Amino acid sequence: MVQDKLLKKQKISARASGLVIGAVMAASPWYISGPYATLNHETFWNSLITGILMMSVASVAIVWRRLYWPAWVFLVLSLWTMLSPGTLSFAVKETSIIHFILGLSGLAVSIIWIRRVFGRLPSGRPIVKGKTFRDCSSSELTLYGLVMVVLGLGYVMALGYLYLTHQGLNGKPGISVQDIAISYYGNRSGTRLEMMLRGPMKGMRSQQDLDRIVAWLKSGADEKGYDKIIHPIIEKRCARCHSEKSGMNLPDFTTYSGIHAVAKVDTGMSIQTLVKLSHIHLFGIGLVTFVLGFVFTLTSLPAWLKNVVIAAPFVGVVVDIATWYLTKWDPIFAYTVVVSGVVLGIAWGMQIVISLYQIVFLSIRTENIVAG
Ligand code: HEC
Repeated sequence: MVQDKLLKKQKISARASGLVIGAVMAASPWYISGPYATLNHETFWNSLITGILMMSVASVAIVWRRLYWPAWVFLVLSLWTMLSPGTLSFAVKETSIIHFILGLSGLAVSIIWIRRVFGRLPSGRPIVKGKTFRDCSSSELTLYGLVMVVLGLGYVMALGYLYLTHQGLNGKPGISVQDIAISYYGNRSGTRLEMMLRGPMKGMRSQQDLDRIVAWLKSGADEKGYDKIIHPIIEKRCARCHSEKSGMNLPDFTTYSGIHAVAKVDTGMSIQTLVKLSHIHLFGIGLVTFVLGFVFTLTSLPAWLKNVVIAAPFVGVVVDIATWYLTKWDPIFAYTVVVSGVVLGIAWGMQIVISLYQIVFLSIRTENIVAG
């Protein structure tokens, strides 16, 4: 009974805090920029609308106490406040910092709030029914342990591939948010051919090749120049990969029409490439996430934490892919691509490390050995 009262109190205080956070958010343009509040349109409307939505949701929840959805909507609004491109770009530092703090507080409040909601799930039914590694046979543990190791290695390789294909696109070594933006939005001041030659294809050409190709691009990339100057370079340096004959399924540069597409102003990956990568990613990452998540369900951890860590990669991959398209539209969304990728990586990392740790250290129990 005492606990019930405490629950109720926390529930109401979470809702009241939600109301306050919404108000602070809605008012933020005014106390940050004073008379210039409306000058930055996007930030102004974003703060105002998000703040008012937060206040409305909290008010609805205060009036109708039994509703489930306001807590989740509030969570989404808090995440948006924290991760929106406007916040992450740090264009206006004060706004970014205040929005980040508000979003973080909103997140904390909604987690308390949602935990109360979970507390009201039908009583007597555990949220996650409990089979753990301790109940597994040794052969199951071998299988689960090894699949975690192999998928973990696969992930490291995927990161390596990501690094190699994205690094250096902006002409500087290493990988940065700018490189990500260039991959999807393109480098609209140059051509894809030049960018690749300065970045990933750097090892395939000499300085002289680069100078000649760039000069050709600058002079309009016409067919006559291609036949005279470019074609010999391609035959010598590139054709073993970039031709029909190579069988590598790469763009064919041995003809003018083949190279023409990359000799135009670079607008990043084509929609076709994006759709191709999207379906491969969704199938592949979806299945890997299922396997990792399935093994992870056997860990001994609080149910809410398991649920969050299991759900995060699914959310991460969908947001990541959705924001590729947004990045093609506006490069600022490269930040969201990075954030969702990091969420995915952290969640997978936790699933692998915690599972392996518990398989190795927590599974041994005398009754298990007796049971075989
Ligand atoms: C050893 C094989 C190989 C050689 C040689 C090679 N490339 Fe590539 N190239 C690749 C691969 C693999 C990719 C795809 C990489 C990726 O997706 O990032 C690629 C991608 C490209 C792209 C981007 C194509 C697109 O549609 O996005 C361009 C442009 C390019 N190469 C130019 C060149 C040029 C010019 C040369 C010769 C100086 C060259 N490459 C030599 C393997 C090669």
